[in-house]
Amino acid sequence: MSNVLEIKNLKSGYGSVLIVNDASLLVGVNEVVGIVGPNGAGKTTLLKTVLGFLKPWSGDVIYLGKRINGLSTEKIVQLGIGYVPERGGVLKTLTVRENVELVTGMFREASEKLRELRKLFPLIDERASQVAGTLSGGEQKILSVVLGLLTAKKLLVMDEPSAGLAPVARKKLSNVLKNIKNNLGLSLLIAEQDPSLVTDLSDVVYVMERGSFVRSGRPDEIVRTEVLREHYLGL
Ligand SMILES: Nc1ncnc2c1ncn2[C@@H]1O[C@H](COP(=O)(O)OP(=O)(O)OP(=O)(O)O)[C@@H](O)[C@H]1O
Ligand SMILES: [Mg+2]
Repeated sequence: MSNVLEIKNLKSGYGSVLIVNDASLLVGVNEVVGIVGPNGAGKTTLLKTVLGFLKPWSGDVIYLGKRINGLSTEKIVQLGIGYVPERGGVLKTLTVRENVELVTGMFREASEKLRELRKLFPLIDERASQVAGTLSGGEQKILSVVLGLLTAKKLLVMDEPSAGLAPVARKKLSNVLKNIKNNLGLSLLIAEQDPSLVTDLSDVVYVMERGSFVRSGRPDEIVRTEVLREHYLGL
């Protein structure tokens, strides 16, 4: 199988307002795919539709060859897609251990995954009894990535993982994501408003504008095009 995820001509939105308009995208095995685009372009709406929080109006979401549109979020996560939401990825009043146990209690295979993740993320044990809301912003984000990884068998979907982080925490997160890329045998789909994090990491970058993908390509080509467009055309 060459693709972990296929999004085909997807349309979705809120109420009667169409946001994602005919979006198509592929994520290959062990591939890192970035989605960049301005505020309000529809990145989060697209990812929420993939995860089943929103139902597609039309089009398909295919994971490991199986059509998953219409399935519940719980079922989709059970199939092995991990999700790191834009915000609210950790429960701040619970400890690190309780956050982890919520996921391992709900999804059977997450306990096995936890053993593997402990080696890569010392925070899981070192901060086990710390209340998650008292971790630094960067540490909370790393915990949120760990919680997503617990259910990610083949794919981890991340929504603006670097949002709100100071430069040092951003650099740390970037190293964590590189570690995931090199060690966990997963495909990653990452939406970011700031392209610098994804260009470093991605094999392919898609540019989203007003709900549609307007360009895709290798990160260096995409960045060059975006810079030229901004500089010469003011777009
Ligand atoms: N729950 C909602 N109800 C109605 N409209 C919404 C809802 N959530 C988002 N929208 C609208 O959908 C559009 C796309 O928003 P979305 O959050 O998908 O963009 P985004 O690309 O993720 O932006 P950002 O980079 O700021 O996170 C925006 O116009 C937004 O106002
Ligand atoms: Mg968003």
